[in-house]
Amino acid sequence: METLIENQVIPMPRIGDKAPAFKAVTTQGEINFPQDYSGKWVIFFSHPADFTPVCTSEFMTFAKMENEFSELNCKLVGLSVDGLYSHIAWLRTIKEKIEFRDMKNIEVKFPLIEDITMEVSKKYGMIQPGESSTKAVRAVFFIDPKGIIRAIIYYPLSLGRNFDELKRALVAMQTADKYSIATPADWRPGEDVIVPPAGSCGVAKERMESEDIKCVDWFFCTKALPLN
Ligand code: BEZ
Repeated sequence: METLIENQVIPMPRIGDKAPAFKAVTTQGEINFPQDYSGKWVIFFSHPADFTPVCTSEFMTFAKMENEFSELNCKLVGLSVDGLYSHIAWLRTIKEKIEFRDMKNIEVKFPLIEDITMEVSKKYGMIQPGESSTKAVRAVFFIDPKGIIRAIIYYPLSLGRNFDELKRALVAMQTADKYSIATPADWRPGEDVIVPPAGSCGVAKERMESEDIKCVDWFFCTKALPLN
């Protein structure tokens, strides 16, 4: 995967790659990414522009859910190609003036990167010229505690993100890592998970005969996880 920007071919990071490293100025001071987040999950996301309505609704929702993500050992880092003073002014306006759904007086405490040069957004494939060559798309990178990109979701400018899905995806990946399982379509925490496919006829037979594992067929088996 790559993007072509001003006749320059820029490779886009992929699932399984190391998160490209950078230093940046943010609304919470300088960060050294991803080193500063070693040992933590990070949701690194871009938005098209400050002082725009969809982005404002998203920032308020990210800020409202920041503690829920923190409890899952996950930090939030945002980025747009606006400058630092625009970011500061926008976040102040959100706190002082904006009410949306059940949210008001919302303080955005996670770092928002200024990227006027587009250096970072280009590195992460956040500038997608077919959509806009002056604004980042709504990209979401899930980066694990070892600094590896584990999932990437892109949305166009007009589409606000689904935050239930962002949290669900994070919990599903953490659960898959912890129990060496996979998760089926629309899985929610607490539901049965998928046992990885049997690698031998013996294991397939065992699975079909097991009391703890439920098999739709030998290749499609699920089980409950321990309650915790
Ligand atoms: C918005 O956040 O509202 C927005 C930003 C760029 C283009 C369209 C909508």
